[in-house]
Amino acid sequence: MCPPEHFAVTYAINPWMDPTVPVDTALAMTQWATLRDTYLQLGHRVDLLEPVPGLPDMVYAANGATVVGGRVFGARFRHPERAAEAAAHLAWFRSAGFPTIEAHLVNEGEGDLLVVGDVVLAGTGFRTDPAAHVEAAAALERPVISLELVDPRYYHLDTAIAVLDATTIAWLPEAFTPAAQQVLRDRYPDAIVASTDDAAVLGLNAVSDGRHVVLPAAATALAAQLVDRGFVPVPVDLSELLKGGGGPKCCTLEVRG
Ligand code: ARG
Repeated sequence: MCPPEHFAVTYAINPWMDPTVPVDTALAMTQWATLRDTYLQLGHRVDLLEPVPGLPDMVYAANGATVVGGRVFGARFRHPERAAEAAAHLAWFRSAGFPTIEAHLVNEGEGDLLVVGDVVLAGTGFRTDPAAHVEAAAALERPVISLELVDPRYYHLDTAIAVLDATTIAWLPEAFTPAAQQVLRDRYPDAIVASTDDAAVLGLNAVSDGRHVVLPAAATALAAQLVDRGFVPVPVDLSELLKGGGGPKCCTLEVRG
């Protein structure tokens, strides 16, 4: 995770971002600290990346890399405003002793590359280059399944799919092309279908340890659906960070050993 010390909305690279709307950085810090404390209380370890002035989106650490089996596949950002974040992540992983692989094509880390069991679901349409899916498959040594997104509000795959465990997802079908919807229906017939209201508060931008699902507090119907399926919803309020177009998952890069 990376504290939102320099968080601001100074540019707009997704429809959630409006530079004319004021951001309360102190409140963002408090909300982010609650997310971090939530993970600690659930027994997870949290490492911190040093925030860099001038990189206001760095709090969305999920975009900085993808880590599978202790192997780190670096990111390459679509927009120049975020480009420098990739090197900061790689440097952190290198100094922590992880083997790293640099990306040549645009991929926005776990924003678009979601690990589900033995496969990686890969988003494209707004950020990650579809050719980067091939690069990711080679780097991570996992089959990668390409999925095309169609709604600019759901510009990253992790805004349209929540990975709940090795075989279970929650998703918003209308965020995808008909072909991608079919792929997901075939693969996950028991998936939870989120309501448009819950998706619209980035309810699917959730982090699951297979049992506890940390999700935006406003996604109340999704929380009830999770309970029905035996998961334990853990709501958090990240309203300030929603102004940048992110939720709990965006703020969390999972380091899979
Ligand atoms: N403002 C950031 C961007 O548009 C938000 C990134 C959200 N991260 C995510 N994993 N969806 O790039």
